[in-house]
Parts: sequence; structure tokens; C-alpha cells
Amino acid sequence: MLTLDTLNRALLLENIHPDATARLTKAGYEVRTMPRALGEEELIEALQGISLLGIRSQTHVTGRVLAAAPDLLAVGAFCIGTNQVDLAAAAKRGVPVFNAPFSNTRSVVELAIAEIISMARRLPEKNAKMHQGVWDKSAKGAHEVRGRKLGIVGYGNIGTQLSVIAESLGMTVYFYDIADKLAIGNARRCSSLEELLESVETVTLHVDGRSGNHGFFGEEEFARMRPRSLFLNLSRGFVVDHAALRSHIESGHIAGAAIDVFPREPKGNGEEFVSELRGLSNVILTPHIGGSTEEAQQDIGEFVSGKLVDFAEGGATSMSVNMPGVALPSAPGTHRLVHLHQNVPGVLATINRVLADHGVNVEGQLLRTRDDLGYVITDIVPAYSDEVLDQLRAMDVTVRLRTIESE
Ligand code: NAI
Repeated sequence: MLTLDTLNRALLLENIHPDATARLTKAGYEVRTMPRALGEEELIEALQGISLLGIRSQTHVTGRVLAAAPDLLAVGAFCIGTNQVDLAAAAKRGVPVFNAPFSNTRSVVELAIAEIISMARRLPEKNAKMHQGVWDKSAKGAHEVRGRKLGIVGYGNIGTQLSVIAESLGMTVYFYDIADKLAIGNARRCSSLEELLESVETVTLHVDGRSGNHGFFGEEEFARMRPRSLFLNLSRGFVVDHAALRSHIESGHIAGAAIDVFPREPKGNGEEFVSELRGLSNVILTPHIGGSTEEAQQDIGEFVSGKLVDFAEGGATSMSVNMPGVALPSAPGTHRLVHLHQNVPGVLATINRVLADHGVNVEGQLLRTRDDLGYVITDIVPAYSDEVLDQLRAMDVTVRLRTIESE
């Protein structure tokens, strides 16, 4: 069991956007920033006295780091992925982890739209020829996108937003998703991938990275696409069989492709990019930059720092990736008890019995559970004794208890 008072100190690593520092400073935090990731030992040392930690993809927050950071309240992953954090170990210690799942959605959509138009106008080839001094003015094979049929595979955050913008350009949108999804605007739902592939002239993949999607788009799917179709993948590299794509481009069956993600990507700038798709005409290759814009970085900085502050100030865990999601509007003049516990029957009754036995009045309460954890926020009127807290801490199931005074 852990208890602690909030320390107003935050550590932001890996060049997180300055808006995050501004947000935390405004909330009363003393913020230390570092431009790089820290290794395990350095991180443990740096975390002493730190209550909020901000990282990006290169800092690994292991179980060992968490065990050695008793002051840590919450971790913000200022990126999309969170597999650099031991989420289960963090949850067990009552440390919520937040990320920014849709801060770069719009950026991916804009790149996809740019690429659809570029391929339809054969810009990659025209551009390459101009740089070689070849003036090739011709309308052959160049098309408007207005009125053309776009097939979106994976109708999630990115797929639905792409649907809206493609329609505003006059495209007719078809989509296929394995989950039931509301069709936005005039988009048409396809009941199978085959139906979509046979209906549209441009196919764009926006599926998630679940393991079942490994190699899900290969020879059979390319063969089903209509002749002279365009193909885009800005989701995950491993979902597409690139050897099959190459042969369909070489045969002319696929008229153009735009690929942003690859099964093997260089670990950093400077390492050679190796792919069977190099050297093909009307193929746009980009280095996994779909979500890489300054606007997305800024949005991530604001979004994740906001989540950290909401948790520190009010115990809100909504959109945390590893804890039950709870957010209760604060009631003026109350005192807030934030209690994380093992998810077993009767915990709420025990908490309320302790409060009732001490004549403490509950003004508001909200409980959520997730896997083997339960999380309850209780607003009480301020007059209570230390014995109340001692008894709540002493419960066998208590993982962490925090008290927050309202303004
Ligand atoms: P999301 O989770 O909101 O949507 C994914 C959708 O795909 C869900 O509706 C899901 O039901 C559907 N889906 C999963 N497997 C499917 C299948 N086999 N067939 C049909 N539908 C399937 O995810 P979001 O935010 O829209 O992201 C989509 C993809 O874009 C992810 O793989 C993500 O990693 C990638 N991404 C790439 C970026 C880049 O820089 N290129 C930046 C941001 C995200």
C-alpha cells in the first residue's frame, strides 16, 4: 500500500512540446525538461521527488523504475504508443498512464488526401521527369478525384475523418470495418472486404495494429482490386505483403501506391531504408510521417499535460490506458478521497461504513473497475479525523489512497 502527499514537481523528457511545460507551470508545477531519453538508472535517480513524468517513445518505464519512484503520481506518454511503459506494473502501484490517441489523426488524413490527388495526377512521375530535364505535358492517365470511388478499410478515428474530407472533395466513399460502425455523411458500408475491393478505384488502409492483421492484405486482395486502382497504406507496415504489391504495380494492375509504413523500418535517420518498393514509378514512399506535423506535436503536448493535471488536481483517470476511467466534477467546499483498490466484492460498502462510523457525510461518489482494480472517488465534507484515513489505508485491499483538497 502506498500513500503520499502530492509534490508539485514534473519531469519532461525527450523534447516534449513547450506547451506541455506551459500547461504544467500554470497548474503550479516546477517543471524540469530534458531533450533526451534516460536509461533505467538515470531515470530512477531523476524521478526522486517527481510526481508527474512525461516521456515519448524512447524512455522505458519498467517495473523496476516504478518500484523505485515512490513519489510518482502519473506518467504521460506524449505520443500514441504506450508499450514503452510497463502498464500492468504502473496500474498495480496506482500510477495511471495517459497518451494522445488522436492528436495526429488529422495529420494522417491530410497526407492521405494529398497522396490520393498526387497519384491521380501522376505527380511522382511528372516531378521525377522534370528533375531530369524532361518536359512531358500530357493529360494521359491524369484524373480529378471528384466523383471517384474511395474505399476505406478500417473506419476508426482516421478512417472516419478521411471519409468526411474525401466527401467534401466530391469523392464517393465506401468503407469496410470488422466492427459495427456508424456511416458518416453519405459513406456506404460494405459487408465484406471483397465487396469494397470490387467497388472502388482507390483503396486506403487504416486498420489498427492488432496481431491478427499481420499480412492481412496480400496477393488475393490485390488481385481483387479493380484494374488501374490506386492503393495507400498509412496504418502499419506488417499488414501488407509488399512483394505482392510490387508485382501488381509492375504488371500495371495497380496504377499507383502511397506507402508510409513498412514491415522493417530503419531505427533512425542515417540507416539505409531497404524495401522491395524502391525504384517504382508512381509510387510515393514516405518515412512513417503520416502523423508527424508540428500541429500534432503541439496537440499532443496540450492533451497529455491536461490529462496529467486533471489527475493530479481531481483524480480524473478518463482515457488512462491502464486504470479504470473515472472523472467526477469537483464540488466546492468538499474534500476528495481517491481510493485505488483490488477489485473484490464489498470494498465500496467498507469505505462507506468507515465514513459513516465517523459521521462523515458523502457529497458525491463514483466507482469504476477494470480487470483486478477498482477506483473510487468520494467527495466528503471537510470535517474528518486522521483516523478515517488510517482506517481506509489499513484496508487489506487498498492499493493507494490520496486526498485532494478542493479550492
Ligand atoms: P482506430 O483504432 O481508431 O481505428 C482502427 C479501425 O480499424 C477500427 O475501427 C477497427 O475495428 C478497424 N479494423 C481493425 N482490423 C480490421 C480489419 N482487419 N479489417 C477492417 N477493419 C479493421 O485507429 P486509428 O487512430 O484510426 O489509426 C489507424 C491506424 O493508423 C493504426 O494502425 C495506427 O497505428 C496508424 N497510424 C499511423 C500513423 C502514421 O504516422 N502513419 C499515425 C497515427 C496512426
